[in-house]
Amino acid sequence: MPILFHEKTKQFHLHNGDISYIFCIMPNDQLGHLYYGKKIRDQEDFSHLLELGFRDMSPCVFEGNAKFSLEQVKQEISVYGAGDLRSCGLHILQEDGSQTVCLEYMAHEIVPGKPLLEGLPATYVEDESEAQTLRVFLIDKWLDCQVELQYTLYNSLPVLTRNIKISNSGKQTIRLEAAMSMSLDLPDKDYEMIDLTGAWGRERHIQTHPLHYGIQSTYSLRGHSSHNYNPFIGLKRKETTEFLGEVLGFSLVYSGNFLAQVEADTYDVTRVMMGIHPNGFSWSLSSGEAFQTPEAVMVYSDQGMNKMSQTFHELYRTRLVRGIWRDRTRPILINNWEATYMDFDEDKILGIARSAADVGIELFVLDDGWFGKRNSDTTSLGDWYPNPDKLPSGISGLARKITDMGLKFGLWFEPEMISKESDLYRKHSDWILSVPYRAMSPGRNQYVLDLTKPEVIDYLDESLSKVLSEADISYVKWDMNRSMSEVFSAGKESGVQGKVYHQYILGLYELYERLTGKFPEVLFESCASGGGRFDPGMLYFCPQGWISDDTDAIERLKIQYGTSMVYPLASMGSHVSAVPNHQTHRSAALATRGDVAYFGTFGYELDLNLLSGAEEARVREQIEFMKKHRELIHKGIFYRLASPFDGNITAWMVLSKDKNRAIVGYYRTLVQVNGGYKRLKLAGLDADKKYRISDIAGERSCYGDEWMEIGILLNDSTSGDYHSKVPKGDFLSRLFLLEAE
Ligand code: GLA
Repeated sequence: MPILFHEKTKQFHLHNGDISYIFCIMPNDQLGHLYYGKKIRDQEDFSHLLELGFRDMSPCVFEGNAKFSLEQVKQEISVYGAGDLRSCGLHILQEDGSQTVCLEYMAHEIVPGKPLLEGLPATYVEDESEAQTLRVFLIDKWLDCQVELQYTLYNSLPVLTRNIKISNSGKQTIRLEAAMSMSLDLPDKDYEMIDLTGAWGRERHIQTHPLHYGIQSTYSLRGHSSHNYNPFIGLKRKETTEFLGEVLGFSLVYSGNFLAQVEADTYDVTRVMMGIHPNGFSWSLSSGEAFQTPEAVMVYSDQGMNKMSQTFHELYRTRLVRGIWRDRTRPILINNWEATYMDFDEDKILGIARSAADVGIELFVLDDGWFGKRNSDTTSLGDWYPNPDKLPSGISGLARKITDMGLKFGLWFEPEMISKESDLYRKHSDWILSVPYRAMSPGRNQYVLDLTKPEVIDYLDESLSKVLSEADISYVKWDMNRSMSEVFSAGKESGVQGKVYHQYILGLYELYERLTGKFPEVLFESCASGGGRFDPGMLYFCPQGWISDDTDAIERLKIQYGTSMVYPLASMGSHVSAVPNHQTHRSAALATRGDVAYFGTFGYELDLNLLSGAEEARVREQIEFMKKHRELIHKGIFYRLASPFDGNITAWMVLSKDKNRAIVGYYRTLVQVNGGYKRLKLAGLDADKKYRISDIAGERSCYGDEWMEIGILLNDSTSGDYHSKVPKGDFLSRLFLLEAE
């Protein structure tokens, strides 16, 4: 039984082979947190872990007992307004203006499996035996408000998922001013916080910093999870590396405004909270109503950051992504965006598709510019019907011609947006998120549709369904190209405007649910100006996402490396594009561009007709390579070996689960003249197996222990060795293939 309740001591112990999570019902019937970390043996009584201590100034729970203060004990759920004086995860404003809440234990149940979260994406189980769920019901007796804390422990992964649900059974209307999905108090502050920061074109760069007293956080208030921060944080020990040491990962399965906050208080207790950002959120609950928070996922590793990431990869690839594309081989695609932008007609598109079919590409994706009068970004969003001037045979005709070539056909949409210059705007100018009497801020010349309105969801459902059912479409790229501002739903009363950000996301999820349900064979890829909404919430609907508009191979090293902290390779859209690169004007070799893009879903974003014969031959080889190895790349175990954030070298590898095959990607940004000897140590291999490694320089065989402890000799600086086969110059890459003998 992985989830235990010790009746006598009133303690819960959630444990599997890897982790223990322990909390108790305290003497005042509230919940106190006792331990989270590496598995420890079970015992009846862990009450010595409840650290009580006298502190001047602290409010206490009982008169005459100065040692029991909510400011001091570690809480299982942190609630604003009583004795806990730290930043709290649940804040309830009541009709009389009071904000004090006291949540006492009422009941609990332990159920097999994992319940679904209504209206929200979440990790799941396929079989009830995969996990157990603990539901603890708390009550504020004065308000008659119940709070359910839900914990699911996976049996064979170091993963605990959490969410809370607040149900108002009382008579008064209450208002949630904050409702975080989880809060966790850790007994020291000796951590470094890892987060993924960036901006458009440089998403998910890894940032690490030691905790300081006070609050440190990442967040989004942009209406989408954002390019700037990702809904993930890690807390690692100072000495933790990619391979050794403890790290706690926290990830939120949500696509809108979020807050991931760490408070190190001045008694050295660390409080981690994660959930919907309280700014812009204010949720009234009348009698009988309930609010469900999104799911937070906690991953524990005592084997470094690679192990944390591998756990996230396994969980998200197999128990968050759904549908037939979860396990299917991902198609190698070509996308026309960087080849043509919006300047195309049917002939041009067919020309690119023909060359793609010829080299072995499997899917052609028509990007922005096919609908309404869309020849620039000033027009037509919302008018989801083909432009006959560009596409005389429509989307269905074009799709037929392309599928006749043996390719699948995919199409770009940006469903959530509207251009003022559109038929949709002329009919429904009131469908925009905006404050009617104030100026609206355009972003990329477009505005955000109000997805809190059912009629908007219906319109989008109908118009997209029409296109998808009239043509042979196998893939949808669902884009979203501006952040939200003036978030207000016209026609709704003032009391519900604090719900709009979240209701928008619920509307988006509903639209996705309808369309993915109606078109289960279609592969959906999410995109938001590149990686502006690359989050676990999206993965529930879209097995893959476009991680960045920056297609430069060298820039992508950092973006892919950072993204891999949480997200599996099978989810990372990665393409080979033309040189000079459109974002950086850099020219990396075609081989390097391919060697980087292999570690993702893989495809091309250029006009193959413009390649030389030698380049075309190289493209054919790349496609053949990816077809041969994509199962290993997408489903294998990924290791980060050398970080682009640390210097000139990047390296990573994927290893098959049986440890018989591996592919190592090695990238050196700038060449060094007559440099020293360098070695790349591999990871995860079977020390006792002999592996043959092949790369451009030849083949060698050694036992796994040697490849891991001594490594591959990388003799690739320039020197007098003019005849070596190893490529020279800047932006070099090498792939090493390992095969157990
Ligand atoms: C966004 C996407 C690009 C492309 C353009 C089209 O920027 O990230 O890949 O689809 O929109 O307008």
